[in-house]
Amino acid sequence: MTLPDRGALSRREYLKALVAAGGTSALAACLDEESAVEIPAGDPAAVPARQHAWNAVLSGDDNENIVPARHHVLLSLTLARDPTEEDRERFGRALETLERAYEWSHEGLLFTVGYTPAYFERVGWNGLPEPTALTEFEDPEFEDGDLQVHLASDHPQAVLAAEEALVGEVEEVNGVGVEESIEDLIDSRERLTGFVGPGLPAEHQDTPGVPDSEPIHEEAPFFMGFRSGFEESQASEDRVTIEEGPFAGGTTQHVETLSIDLRQWYEQDSQFQRVAKLFSHQHAEEGLVGEYGEKLDESNALTAERIANTTEDARRYGVVGHAQKAARAREDGEPLLLRRDFNTTDDDRPGLHFLSLQREIDEFVRVREAMTGTDLAEETGIGSITNNGILQYLTVRRRGNYLLPPHDLRAFPEP
Ligand code: HEM
Repeated sequence: MTLPDRGALSRREYLKALVAAGGTSALAACLDEESAVEIPAGDPAAVPARQHAWNAVLSGDDNENIVPARHHVLLSLTLARDPTEEDRERFGRALETLERAYEWSHEGLLFTVGYTPAYFERVGWNGLPEPTALTEFEDPEFEDGDLQVHLASDHPQAVLAAEEALVGEVEEVNGVGVEESIEDLIDSRERLTGFVGPGLPAEHQDTPGVPDSEPIHEEAPFFMGFRSGFEESQASEDRVTIEEGPFAGGTTQHVETLSIDLRQWYEQDSQFQRVAKLFSHQHAEEGLVGEYGEKLDESNALTAERIANTTEDARRYGVVGHAQKAARAREDGEPLLLRRDFNTTDDDRPGLHFLSLQREIDEFVRVREAMTGTDLAEETGIGSITNNGILQYLTVRRRGNYLLPPHDLRAFPEP
């Protein structure tokens, strides 16, 4: 992979481009660029029992909302053979090295290791469903590896270095010697990358597919121009934790990779339409959202009544909001998904790696059905894609299902 041109980019753009490029030369360039940055070291004994326990060590905003880490790598690995007991111990030690090198926080490194149905086939367990197409308009690729490591940090160098340490390409990570890797076990690897945070999407105005006629708001954390992930529309870590069985204390993860038609979104639609399609018609009419969501606090302002009126809104206004219809899947008023999604420019086009945690994959499927809203198209005058939230702008490229065991079983678990 060729490295980005330092002279043509701002510092932040350059660092993001290095994460997207990956590899040891990108890491070296990143360390060079960030030579003044000091990242706190960590202590494996201080890492929580749940791999997905990130909220307490992410920062918050002025309300109760959790702010995601800024840089992300999803490293999918296919194993060359079934892992042995010795491999299990070795992988455990390699992961501990990362915990020693970096504080368990957004300022250090957060990570999870998730396993696929293909992995569980190796160890004779069939408790995790294969990913499938979830709408009639998609023909995605499916994750075909054994495991996926999600690396997240505010520091680009931390995600890059952790990745290279795991695959045995570096001897030191943040000053800590790398003694173990699973290099010899890896048959192939695939990486998905991205970023999230105020201002980061606006810096991608020169990516193919990102329109420059309608600039993305400078404060927007996501490509479609609005804040997301409000406290009241997120499941808690407890709510997504598996309660019984061999992986009690773990969770499941679905990753849906989407590309986004931002040209149509920004050039064809008005701000009113964008708010109506993402939130609800009422949000647009009453100006509840603001330019990029700054008027919202820890809630996306969807009342129980607004959610219950989704079908009626579709009939009356000919448009329905994405959040409004997805919220129909809440149970007893509680969201089922803990969304940790982030923007991407992988494959040189704007998109989103929609990553969500839930107690079981079936819950994701149910929420996704609510978002697809086939019932709304059948019962009202809106199209199956047009005016049906944001479906018209999205193409599903890839799907993967993972099980994230609790911390003590995270290295090649054998149920
Ligand atoms: C490019 C794609 C997407 C964008 C830009 C997007 C954006 C948003 C925004 C702005 C909100 C409202 C703010 C909030 O409640 O956090 C929202 C809510 C939500 N979205 Fe998405 N989203 C996308 C894809 C998805 C996908 C694939 C799912 C999968 C089911 C999903 C599920 C949800 C859920 C469950 C909510 C919260 C509903 C509630 O309040 O209970 N979104 N999204």
